[in-house]
Amino acid sequence: MDEQMSCFDKEIDRTNSHSDKWTKYPQEVIPLWVADMDFESPECIKNALNERVDEGVFGYTHASKSLENNIVEHAQRRYNWAISRTHIVHLPGLVCALHLAVRNFSNEGDAIVVPGPVYYHLNKAPLLANRTLSRVDMEIKEGRWVPDMQALETACAQPNSKMILLCNPHNPGGTVYTKAELEAIHQLAKRHDLLVVSDEIHCDLILDDVPHVPFASINEDAANRTITLMAPSKTFNVAGLGYAFAVISNPPLRNAFNEAKTGLVPYPNLLGLTAANAAYEAGQEWHASLLTYLKENRDIIARWLPSTPLKMVHLEATYLAWIDVSALQLDSVHQFFLEAGIGISDGKDFGNPNYIRLNFGCPKSRLEDAIKRINDALKKHNYL
Ligand SMILES: Cc1ncc(COP(=O)(O)O)c(C=O)c1O
Repeated sequence: MDEQMSCFDKEIDRTNSHSDKWTKYPQEVIPLWVADMDFESPECIKNALNERVDEGVFGYTHASKSLENNIVEHAQRRYNWAISRTHIVHLPGLVCALHLAVRNFSNEGDAIVVPGPVYYHLNKAPLLANRTLSRVDMEIKEGRWVPDMQALETACAQPNSKMILLCNPHNPGGTVYTKAELEAIHQLAKRHDLLVVSDEIHCDLILDDVPHVPFASINEDAANRTITLMAPSKTFNVAGLGYAFAVISNPPLRNAFNEAKTGLVPYPNLLGLTAANAAYEAGQEWHASLLTYLKENRDIIARWLPSTPLKMVHLEATYLAWIDVSALQLDSVHQFFLEAGIGISDGKDFGNPNYIRLNFGCPKSRLEDAIKRINDALKKHNYL
């Protein structure tokens, strides 16, 4: 590889690995939809997996002390959050925990408060369980997507409201909640005695110089009413290995969560555990380089968009650009981009049909090709 090239510039052919991302569309389409990146995971993960596979025996396996200690240290180092090994609940993925929490800690007919548009499983978890989805709109305030706090207060105050599902950093839109914003949300949760399930899967993908504040870290009451969900999968690009974890410091809440998952939620795959251990133990340098690369990609998009009718609010976190395409007045947003040769995520899947979500976790060459294709389509249809 050229000295100047970064490992993230490498174009990897993923078409033969049954990748969801790369098999959804015809080969000529650039897939920029589902949230995984076209980057190799760091060497430390590949080496740990190779060593584990070489052992050749793959029986029932539990999480190592080392993994739990590495998670504890990671939480301390990155978020100044003191957790204990005993607070960790290992999971084969984060989505199952969202659904499980809704089903176990609320009853049919209860309302679940969800700021949105949001990653669709936060909407699905209440709906599939016959709960009322009490959606609170996110609005643009001072250049950031934040929940409409008046609407949030009204939703939380409903007598059947039981829980808030929070996504921090928010997907899509990239909001990194400030401590003050979390404290305001916590006041509502406390006043109306709501459980908070905080999906923090994107918390190591912050592109600005702002800290991630875990909801549970803001005070003791917040810690006691929160199930925090995290994973190395987005950051280290190991979503296919199936590993996530919950942090639940309140013992009765943790016991109830553990009980609810008994017999239903399998233990994580041993390779997922192996990768997570390596990521948190030795992935820091790679992670720092990844963030630099993603920031550059975000900035490429931010510089390009003003030359088009498309708009984006500054993205603080994630590699998922949330782009307003309403000016195009399209009948089918998805079809327009597909015809341009780009497979995007449709905003309507998250709750706003005027938007697309574009995954820029890819080599710059691919991103630039995608931008060129979109520009060509805009020109062809006289938008430029
Ligand atoms: C906010 C959020 N939560 C959860 C997930 C998926 O979690 P998992 O693959 O661990 O089930 C995603 C994937 O894009 C996500 O964006």
